[in-house]
Amino acid sequence: MRVIVTGGAGFIGANLCGALAAHPAIDTVVAFDDLSTGRRENLHGVNAELVVGTILDPEALATVCAGAHAIVHLAAIGSVPRSVADPLPTHFANATGTVNVLQAAREATTGGAQVVVAGSSSVYGANPALPKHEDLATRPLSPYAASKLATEAYALAWAASYQLPVMSFRFFNVFGPLQPADHAYAAVVPRFVAAALAGQPLTVHGDGTQSRDFTYVGTVAGVITDAVVRRVTSLEPVNLAFGTRHTLLQVIELLEQQLGRTLDVQFEPTRAGDIAHSQAAHHRLDALFPGVVPVSLADGLRATVQWMAGRV
Ligand SMILES: NC(=O)c1ccc[n+]([C@@H]2O[C@H](COP(=O)([O-])OP(=O)(O)OC[C@H]3O[C@@H](n4cnc5c(N)ncnc54)[C@H](O)[C@@H]3O)[C@@H](O)[C@H]2O)c1
Repeated sequence: MRVIVTGGAGFIGANLCGALAAHPAIDTVVAFDDLSTGRRENLHGVNAELVVGTILDPEALATVCAGAHAIVHLAAIGSVPRSVADPLPTHFANATGTVNVLQAAREATTGGAQVVVAGSSSVYGANPALPKHEDLATRPLSPYAASKLATEAYALAWAASYQLPVMSFRFFNVFGPLQPADHAYAAVVPRFVAAALAGQPLTVHGDGTQSRDFTYVGTVAGVITDAVVRRVTSLEPVNLAFGTRHTLLQVIELLEQQLGRTLDVQFEPTRAGDIAHSQAAHHRLDALFPGVVPVSLADGLRATVQWMAGRV
């Protein structure tokens, strides 16, 4: 099997390339990435080829996707604040870029390559219901969330219109090794771990009781690899999380246990647009991928601390 991973030099992408390359049914893994937020070093030690290019270039996509059995499409501009500040680049990369990938998939091989796309729990937005099941009304609160709704809608429309085999996942808060802590809009887990290791205070916006369905990147990579190998498809979006909701205060407590010391926490005002709670319903995932046991938050945090401690 030849598998292309757009965004393959990014956080989730590089972890996924490692999982795909380690699977005996997969011969060739190609990461296609413009290195805008991804890093060449993320693929060190991974048996994957890196092709530098943009999903906004249909010809480059056609070339790299020729003969592919599957394309996992992760390339995107992932920052919510960045999309609010400057919405058009997010729209082009996440919506138009997805259309380009779907078109390349149609031409890649007879019958079309399977396409697995990365949607986001952000599409639930202002809908307060918990847990979030996939039939809930979507209420995007940012250009990023709208663009991710477009990502999954285009993928599902290409399945209906052109019989393209498609799997559209909604990721929740993915965390783990390779996730950067060193940029303005870094995710909460790498920010906490980096601050804790540096002996600096952990910044919490709000009172820390907000909760998320933290999902370990190794678990996400495992499910996607299985989707590719078994060519799992769905005509509806599927949450890729397990209903395991933790508050930020619980994350800090776990870090304190693992590091064996009390951590200094600095509370700041709630950020506009932050949602209070997020938790996935996972019936659809369970039906399609029975028996997956997710890595626990504690074990995932331990692996993240180990990885980050090895870098500082
Ligand atoms: N991390 C999460 O918790 C989370 C949650 C929901 C959805 N997602 C989605 O998962 C995917 C991967 O996210 P991530 O956290 O690994 O972020 P990331 O920024 O590390 O990965 C995105 C990758 O896409 C590449 N890229 C961006 N624009 C491109 C373009 N025009 N052409 C080619 N490559 C391009 C970047 O260089 C980067 O390597 C994204 O689609 C994101 O929207 C992530």
